[in-house]
Amino acid sequence: MVPPKQQPFRSLSPAVWRASTVVFDSLDEFARRKERQPDGYSYGVTGTPTARELERQIAALEGAAHCVVTPSGQSALLTSLMGFVRAGDHLLISAACYTPMKILAEKWLINFGVHVEYYPPTMGAEIETYLRPNTKMICLESPGTITMEMQDVPAITAVARRHGVMTMMDNTWASPLAFKPLQHGVDLSIEAATKVLGGHSDLLLGAISMNDYSYYEVLRETQSVFGQQTSPDDCFLVLRGLKTLKVRFAAQGATTINIAEQLELHPLVQTVLLPALPSDAGHDIWKRDFSGTGCLFSVILTPAPDEAYAAFFDALRVFSIGASSGGVDSLAAFYPAALQAERLFAFTDQPVVRLSIGLEDVDELMADLHNGLHAFEKVLNRTGCITWGL
Ligand SMILES: Cc1ncc(COP(=O)(O)O)c(C=O)c1O
Repeated sequence: MVPPKQQPFRSLSPAVWRASTVVFDSLDEFARRKERQPDGYSYGVTGTPTARELERQIAALEGAAHCVVTPSGQSALLTSLMGFVRAGDHLLISAACYTPMKILAEKWLINFGVHVEYYPPTMGAEIETYLRPNTKMICLESPGTITMEMQDVPAITAVARRHGVMTMMDNTWASPLAFKPLQHGVDLSIEAATKVLGGHSDLLLGAISMNDYSYYEVLRETQSVFGQQTSPDDCFLVLRGLKTLKVRFAAQGATTINIAEQLELHPLVQTVLLPALPSDAGHDIWKRDFSGTGCLFSVILTPAPDEAYAAFFDALRVFSIGASSGGVDSLAAFYPAALQAERLFAFTDQPVVRLSIGLEDVDELMADLHNGLHAFEKVLNRTGCITWGL
């Protein structure tokens, strides 16, 4: 019989390697430890084998040569900007990009001497008119956060490449399963792995994927110099999430379309903002470039006082109230009219209800939304607004 210590250990799950300090076999190896970057191990902040395994798997999904993981989606956006944008550069950001990234640009980058400008999120090749000799990078997100505008990504990246301008895209909505930004000319593909890649609303993690090795070197250094170590435990949880990503994504996408189609027919619903619906303004681009739908979409209801929205949210029992997406539990969030009114190039000045669809039963979710809409209608009746007799 083989003694226990000689038996090989094999498991289906990756090991969780924790380390601040990496140790070396010789002084020579120690002295040359920095040469191990951007791939290897020199100190805990640049990652352990658990992080590398996650980077390898995300890069494979993205069709990328390299990936750098960071402690959150926002930190992936931050790392991409801090890695490449310098004082005097012009930075173009889609007006529908994730708000904290815009705050980072407006409150920090502007004070570092960066010229920040927003462009209309539905703009395609016409983005050329926004370029300046010092334009360094264009930030895309398609569909846009909250209002779901689709961007013509290949048209924008073709212009950018012609002018030697870098592009980065927040691809969180689609995930690499439905859209691979690098195949459409984007330089840096960003995922908030916090969302559907992790899938269970219990961690924060970001990923930047790319093909260019020199970008990879810059981003590994930026990630580590900014002290952005990603917890190996969180890397492990995302690795576990990836094992079920395809089935979750497909199931949540199917339920999303089902619910969105039902809501479109509801008399209290004015507009459903989901590019996978033929009625959506961005549907043609979605159909051309995307192979699936994310589980996040927005709804504009019939004009009503804020009180009616409060009643809607109070009535929800299956949906939890929260601003996130991609998890197995459904969420509902509210974005008041003022937010749209103050956003540049917004197409609506009405409140937006945003839903992230999880893995619950579709009938259960619809019943919950009907309860919410019923409560919404009651307030409309009480305040003398139109009633639909639901
Ligand atoms: C589109 C998008 N990008 C980035 C982020 C940031 O991700 P994290 O919460 O991991 O910082 C979010 C989070 O809500 C998001 O929705």
